[in-house]
Amino acid sequence: MSKTVTVKAHTNIALVKYWGKKDPKLMLPQNGSISLTLDHFYTETSVTFDPHATADQVSFNQKVIAPQKAQRIIKFLDLIRERSGETARAIVKTSNHVPTSAGLASSASGFAALAAAGSRAAGLELSLTDLSRLARRGSGSATRSIFGGFVEWHAGSDDASSYAEPIQDPVDWDIQMIAVVLQASKKPISSTAGMQRVVTTSPYYPAWVETANADLVAMRQAIAAHDLAAVGELAETNAMRMHALNLSAKPAFNYFTADTLTAIKAVQDLRANGINCYYTLDAGPNVKIICASSDTGTIKTALQRYFAASQLIVAQPGPGISITETLH
Ligand code: DP6
Repeated sequence: MSKTVTVKAHTNIALVKYWGKKDPKLMLPQNGSISLTLDHFYTETSVTFDPHATADQVSFNQKVIAPQKAQRIIKFLDLIRERSGETARAIVKTSNHVPTSAGLASSASGFAALAAAGSRAAGLELSLTDLSRLARRGSGSATRSIFGGFVEWHAGSDDASSYAEPIQDPVDWDIQMIAVVLQASKKPISSTAGMQRVVTTSPYYPAWVETANADLVAMRQAIAAHDLAAVGELAETNAMRMHALNLSAKPAFNYFTADTLTAIKAVQDLRANGINCYYTLDAGPNVKIICASSDTGTIKTALQRYFAASQLIVAQPGPGISITETLH
């Protein structure tokens, strides 16, 4: 009898960002980070270890991926095999429920789902904390996607001490994000390579670590106080400091497009008109607007001067992973 484990994991958007590793092999970050898991965007992955399979087979949105393109996933399956003693190859089926080419943090939900489905299919019964540690080895931001609501990833100093935990779940107040999905030109540099370049070449990096650590303390307080303006202001400043690192790297790079700047300006104009909204940005052109659901209509109307309604996706705080198991 074999077992297929299917896991649904939601993506998360960092409010205090992870942008640099102190140990690339163990994926230990330079600083802790805090995120909000979102309901609207998720990955669903099923894993079966098949004693008859001769190689790992990975399909994405129902298309088989060539092994050279699936190396990161295959390496991660090797890590699961090493820990569990499982020797069979795996059949991995994954689908992303993120609007087409939105580029919204799919490695976060992707590796969180793969860690949970793969480890359980291989016979490991890991706690959520251990799943968070395991997901970290696939992609740093996946560490946080095991959990729902507001989540903090403790940087730690070794494998055991670097994991995430929920700091508020469920989220019992009105805070949401509107994703402004913008046309991506080819990504100038992956997040993995971009953050590494910043760590090794930006003269401002030590100041980033120092200010990010201070942001963590203030962000925890703002979340506990249900203070949307404080959460938003901190998130916005933290995001711009992260992007300033990219401009100060050698060679410099950035993820912004002209539309990114248009969306930022629209948020600033709304705020000047008394609407409590803030923006954050990750390793891509999309802008995420932090706001209350009561302002959704006003914000969407303002943004629709520049963007189509289909580019504006409203997301609420979302749950942690869910796991289902079938025997066949
Ligand atoms: C800007 O988790 O994609 O979204 O660990 O190298 O896979 P790797 O990087 P990744 O980086 C995410 C960076 C970010 C900020 C964040 O999510 O904290």
